Amino acid sequence: MADSDEERPNAARMYDYFLGGAHNFAVDRQAAEAARAAFPALPETMRAGRAFLRRAVHFLLDTGIDQFLDLGSGIPTVGNVHEIARLANVPARVVYVDVDPIAVAHSRTLLADEPATVIVDRDVRDVAGVLADPQTRHTLDFDRPIGLLFNGVLHFVPDADDPAGLVAAYRQAVAPGSYLAIGHATGTRRSADGEAEIGRARKVYSDAGERVSLRGRDEIAALFAGTTLVEPGVVEVDRWRPDEATEAFGLAGYAGVARID
Ligand SMILES: C[S@@+](CC[C@H](N)C(=O)[O-])C[C@H]1O[C@@H](n2cnc3c(N)ncnc32)[C@H](O)[C@@H]1O
Repeated sequence: MADSDEERPNAARMYDYFLGGAHNFAVDRQAAEAARAAFPALPETMRAGRAFLRRAVHFLLDTGIDQFLDLGSGIPTVGNVHEIARLANVPARVVYVDVDPIAVAHSRTLLADEPATVIVDRDVRDVAGVLADPQTRHTLDFDRPIGLLFNGVLHFVPDADDPAGLVAAYRQAVAPGSYLAIGHATGTRRSADGEAEIGRARKVYSDAGERVSLRGRDEIAALFAGTTLVEPGVVEVDRWRPDEATEAFGLAGYAGVARID
């Protein structure tokens, strides 16, 4: 890592810090604490999103999915897809895709010795590029079902870039029996102070130079067009098949999983 990495906070490393990971510097921890002061529920929001990823991947493993395309994967730390699969004793194949240079650099280091697990350094909006990438082709068998994971990433895709069209393009590239999982931030929260908190969250993101498109439940449900949602459909993130480890949370996100036929 270059020295400058230790001087400027980075969103991927702040996320890692909130999840309890070790891939962050003092400057990231300071920025993360400032963000928490503005939006106290931020770490909880991130943990809830990551917990949905865990439950969704377990669900997909249970249905027999053993290969994953994880779009906007972040730093693969603290319970990422290949770790979830390994704990479930499934020898899964995983393609992580991220455009953030820090997330990609950490991914390369962390995944160097992982079998059948790669990081593709691309923008998820470049569907043709992601799908044709030699690492993607080498790792995934597109004649067999694949789990498409869009967790915490589509709210970084503005309407102008047609997120529904983006999801549809990936959906059309995978075999019948594949699955789609989406977790997406929204602009409301169940708590009394919800709207104000979301406003502060939006500012935290925009101050960090991130354009975030918070969407409502109907818009998020529309991203599942052409698929068959599994129960309980598109629901608040902490209400998607909660297990004993799920923290109830008055939550700023919706999630769902659907079958592609
Ligand atoms: C909040 S993190 C989510 C990480 C992980 N999917 C999870 O569920 O824990 C969002 C990630 O999406 C990545 N991202 C945002 N826009 C992207 C794009 N257009 N192409 C690729 N990655 C993107 C960011 O770099 C970041 O690492």
